[in-house]
Amino acid sequence: MATGAAALLALMMVSWAAVLAANAAAPSLDTSPVPFEAGYMPLFGGDNLVRSPDGRSVRLKLDASTGSGFVSKSAYHHGYFSASIKLPDDYTAGVVVAFYLSNGDVFPGNHDEVDFELLGSRRGHEWRLQTNIYGNGSTSRGREERYLLPFDPTLHPHAYAVAWTPTAIIFYVDGTPIREVVRVPAMGGDFPAKPMSVYATIWDGSAWATEGGRYKLDYAYAPFAADFSALVLSGCPVGGVEQVVGGGGGSSSSSSASCDVAVMTAESAVMTPAKRAAMRRFRRRHLLYTVCHDRYRYNGTVFPECDADGSERGDFHKWGESKLVSPSRRGYKKKRQQQRANKQAAGDRPSTWPIGTLLVD
Ligand SMILES: *[C@@H]1O[C@H](CO)[C@@H](O)[C@H](O)[C@H]1NC(C)=O
Ligand SMILES: *[C@@H]1O[C@H](CO)[C@@H](O)[C@H](O)[C@H]1NC(C)=O
Repeated sequence: MATGAAALLALMMVSWAAVLAANAAAPSLDTSPVPFEAGYMPLFGGDNLVRSPDGRSVRLKLDASTGSGFVSKSAYHHGYFSASIKLPDDYTAGVVVAFYLSNGDVFPGNHDEVDFELLGSRRGHEWRLQTNIYGNGSTSRGREERYLLPFDPTLHPHAYAVAWTPTAIIFYVDGTPIREVVRVPAMGGDFPAKPMSVYATIWDGSAWATEGGRYKLDYAYAPFAADFSALVLSGCPVGGVEQVVGGGGGSSSSSSASCDVAVMTAESAVMTPAKRAAMRRFRRRHLLYTVCHDRYRYNGTVFPECDADGSERGDFHKWGESKLVSPSRRGYKKKRQQQRANKQAAGDRPSTWPIGTLLVD
């Protein structure tokens, strides 16, 4: 008994030593949020970009004079990027709030892009989320998906994150994977593969953002303000100076290789069965449109990375629209109306409503 316990203890100590040694050798991804100034700089919009006193969050405003935006100081070749975003309330048709990776400034003819685009709504309707990717200038082959959100994105900040590795791109909302694009050889250059910077912007997308452009931006409701916080820039910087990866150092090629290892082995890049199940659940409940099941858009051609096992096909019409998801089926609208009614009953007009608007949907 005693010898057995001692042997077990010795074994445990050996395996702990092995774990510690492995941890010391393997780089790990530091995913803590950074202050704005540490990773980002203003891009456009002048005074419409407002930093918080503690420097850790930023408000981006859109008014009749301009939108606004910021951009990472470094370009990154792979990484995990996240921002928590609280969106403007009330009538926001035509407003686009985007958090994305791009290198359009460096490669105008053959750029790469990975997008979160939040699309404003008429009053009483919901914000939509759109994801998309382009690789090497594949702008004639948009890979859009559109979703409803499982929460009211105007009440609190929610985290929108993307893990970009050499082999896959995974989009997350509040830690739930919502889309996984696995790089298959047939994608060719369409998989984003060149270094990209990280952007956040707010702008007028009246031409297309809300119900195909039917509802335009109305500056009577301006300024529109989106708050960005919990800024995570856990990438492999190109020509940058940040130390985002522990256990690194060394020459740039070996540190970029070890950074890729850190990005690929991070929890955010590994799809476990539980995460796949959560993604499936999210998509069944919230995915409104996916290019993967749109048989008309590209003349019957379906992208090679799409729904390899065909498990989602039955959920979608031939033009990519969900058979299962429609805004009227969902609960939060009702919950929100109840919250408003409660506030009114308490004599407390929600502070975000512009003075003079009426309570009619
Ligand atoms: C990317 O585009 C450039 C210019 O159009 C082309 O020369 C190159 O072969 C493309 N690369 C890939 C991987 O498709
Ligand atoms: C679309 O598909 C039809 C039938 O397969 C073909 O005749 C036509 O040329 C295609 N058009 C384009 C633009 O690829």
